[in-house]
Amino acid sequence: MAVILGIESSCDETSASICINGKVINNEIASQAIHEQYGGVVPELASREHQRNIVPIVDHVLSHSSINVDELDGIAYTRGPGLLGALLIGSSFAKSMAASLNIPIIPIHHMKAHVLAHFIDDPKPKYPFICLTVSGGHTQILRVNSVTEMIILGQTQDDAVGEAFDKAAKLLDLPYPGGPMIDKLAKQGDPNKFSFSLSEMPNLDYSFSGVKTSILYFLRKEIQQNEAFISENLNDLSASIQYSFVSMLMDKLIKAAKQESIDRIAIAGGVSANSGLRSALEDASMKYGWEVFIPDFQYCTDNAGMIAMSGHLLYEKQAFGQMNDSPLPRMPF
Ligand code: KG4
Ligand code: ZN
Repeated sequence: MAVILGIESSCDETSASICINGKVINNEIASQAIHEQYGGVVPELASREHQRNIVPIVDHVLSHSSINVDELDGIAYTRGPGLLGALLIGSSFAKSMAASLNIPIIPIHHMKAHVLAHFIDDPKPKYPFICLTVSGGHTQILRVNSVTEMIILGQTQDDAVGEAFDKAAKLLDLPYPGGPMIDKLAKQGDPNKFSFSLSEMPNLDYSFSGVKTSILYFLRKEIQQNEAFISENLNDLSASIQYSFVSMLMDKLIKAAKQESIDRIAIAGGVSANSGLRSALEDASMKYGWEVFIPDFQYCTDNAGMIAMSGHLLYEKQAFGQMNDSPLPRMPF
């Protein structure tokens, strides 16, 4: 039993959370709107925003919990993967605070934390389960055997699916981040109106850069005939693009479930907010008898709740870090 402070700063959200005896009691997130005008995350600006936000957000979660700072048993922080400058802010802060309180630090792998977000709320999946982790930086199918044993069954060899959503949205002249915008417009569109050539990858791996290029060439050709093609077909284009990405995700997920003979299927990461993916999972759960697990929306995108929960689970295993651990932008899985 322990009281853990979790800190997340791997990309463009500064977040803090308190987990008391395995229960995440708050999850405060400061998003960085500044990147919108640049059409993507600017690393230097992200670091500066983390620097501005980190003390107030940690103060906030502490003052809105029933515990005093001297009751903390450990501080969990995102060690990687992520932007180096962004990770440095969270890790330096976590280490300094832990040193001043003389408590352990618990380094956390951001992608594993997305998976462990499933243990925040009920129903919690039983081991082993399959987790499709889909974010702006990663696309992986994992076999999760325990808190510490996660096996990569397949992953993208180029773009992450969130990145593919954002790049496709850019081609449609939609603002960053485009994933949620495509999702919204797709609701009014016909997913079968346009089709794009999907790359076939061996095994359970993905490739999203080919389909992105196929969308680009398709749009170029159509715009030559009709300059207003995108604006006249925005909903159908969004629906068709979303359908392509979701079909690719589901195809390998179904294969992975069959290969491993596992019918407990979880999704994690920012793209698990996508309504097309959610309804495809519901369909598959009916068809294949899957038990599907989707975290609450606030724990799908980047958040410290998942870091605090991972910290709790690793605290129980005494998996502590060292003060000379440096952040790992490409932290191995
Ligand atoms: O996990 P996340 O918040 O941050 C990373 O660790 O990358 O994921 C962000 C990604 C972005 O690419 C964003 O466009 C995508 O998730 N995303 C969505 C939706 N909501 C967020 N993509 C499609 N549909 C959505 N509803
Ligand atoms: Zn993430």
